[in-house]
Amino acid sequence: MLLLGIETSCDETAAAVLNLSGLGNRMRPKILSDLVASQEEIHLPYGGIVPELASRRHIEILQPLVEQALSKAKVGLTDLNAIAVTHAPGLVGSLLVGLSFAKSLALGLNIPFVGVSHLEGHLNAPFLENPGIPYPQIGLIVSGGHTALYFIKGFGDYRFLGGTRDDAAGEAFDKVAKLLGLGYPGGPVIDKIAREGDPTAIKLPRPKMPKYDFSFSGLKTAVKNLSHDAQRMTHDVCASFQETVADHLIEKTMLAAKNYRCRVVVITGGVACNSRLKAKLGEICRQTGRRLFVPSPRYCTDNAAMIAYTGGRYLLKGQSSPWSLNALANLDLNQVGGVV
Ligand code: KG4
Ligand code: ZN
Repeated sequence: MLLLGIETSCDETAAAVLNLSGLGNRMRPKILSDLVASQEEIHLPYGGIVPELASRRHIEILQPLVEQALSKAKVGLTDLNAIAVTHAPGLVGSLLVGLSFAKSLALGLNIPFVGVSHLEGHLNAPFLENPGIPYPQIGLIVSGGHTALYFIKGFGDYRFLGGTRDDAAGEAFDKVAKLLGLGYPGGPVIDKIAREGDPTAIKLPRPKMPKYDFSFSGLKTAVKNLSHDAQRMTHDVCASFQETVADHLIEKTMLAAKNYRCRVVVITGGVACNSRLKAKLGEICRQTGRRLFVPSPRYCTDNAAMIAYTGGRYLLKGQSSPWSLNALANLDLNQVGGVV
C-alpha cells in the first residue's frame, strides 16, 4: 500500500511517502521519501511561534512539498492508495491547512484518508525503524510542547498515566538555554555543552511530583537564580541541569515500567534526542532486563513518516475517517480509537 503522510500541526510542514506491507504489529514500513520544511526563520524575530504566520506558511509550501515528496519517492499522485494526515492536537489553523489539503486530494483521487493524532504518531515512531516491537510498552513523549507518559497495551490502546504540571521538558531546555544566552533551540546546545561539564557540580532541586507527573519550572527558576555568578561555569550548569531533567524523566518512566510490568520502553519527541537521557535510560533498562527503543533524531522530532505509518496501521485494519472529520486543538490519546 502506497501512502502519503501529511503533518502540519505546528510550525513544520512535513510530507512523506511510505510503502507499507504486512499486517498489525508486523507491518513493514518502507520510507520512500520523508521531507520536513522548517519555519524557524519566520518565527525567530517574534521569540515564539505566531499561529497565523504558521498557517499561512503551510498553505504556501504544502503543495510543492508534497510534489517533491512524490517525485523523490518516484511515484505519481495516481499511484497513491490512501492519505494519512494529522488532525489533532495542535494549532487549529495549522491543522486545518493539512487536513483540508489531504481531504481534497483524497476526494479528487477517490481514495480513503485517515486522520491521525500527532501524539499517537510520536508514540508509533519507533516502529519506523523497528517493526514488530512487542507490547505492552511504557511510552514517554518528550518534546517542546509535550511531556506525557503512557501505558500502551497494544496499537491504538493508550492509557495516559501522567504529564507535566507546568513546562514541557523541551520548553525547559529552551528556557534555560535562553537564560544562559545560548540561543534557540536550547536542547541540542545544552546537550553539546554539557559534555564538557560536571553533572554533579551544582546541586539543583530534584522535582518532587506525585506518581507519574512531572514539573520543570522550579528547576528553571533554580538555574535562573544561580546563572548570575555562573557565567564562568556554563558547562557545569548545563551538565547539572540536563542530569536533573534526565533523572526526573527516568524516575517516572521506570516507576511506570515496574508498576505496569512492561519489558519495553519507548521514548520519542525532540528531547528523546538527548544523549544523556538515552545513555542513562538505556543503561537502567539493560540492568533491569528491559528493552529501550528510541527513534533516530529525524523521527524523534516532528515528521510525516510517523503519521503515514500510524494511519497505515488503521487503514490496514479497514478503518478510515469520515469526510466530516474536524481539526481539534486538544485530543486525549485515550480517545483516539473512537475518532478514527
Ligand atoms: O519534537 P520537537 O521537534 O517539536 C515539538 O515540540 O513538537 O521537539 C523540539 C524540542 C525543543 O524544545 C528542543 O530544545 C528539544 O526538543 N531538543 C532537545 C534535544 N534536541 C531537541 N532537548 C534536549 N536534548 C536534545 N539533544
Ligand atoms: Zn511533536
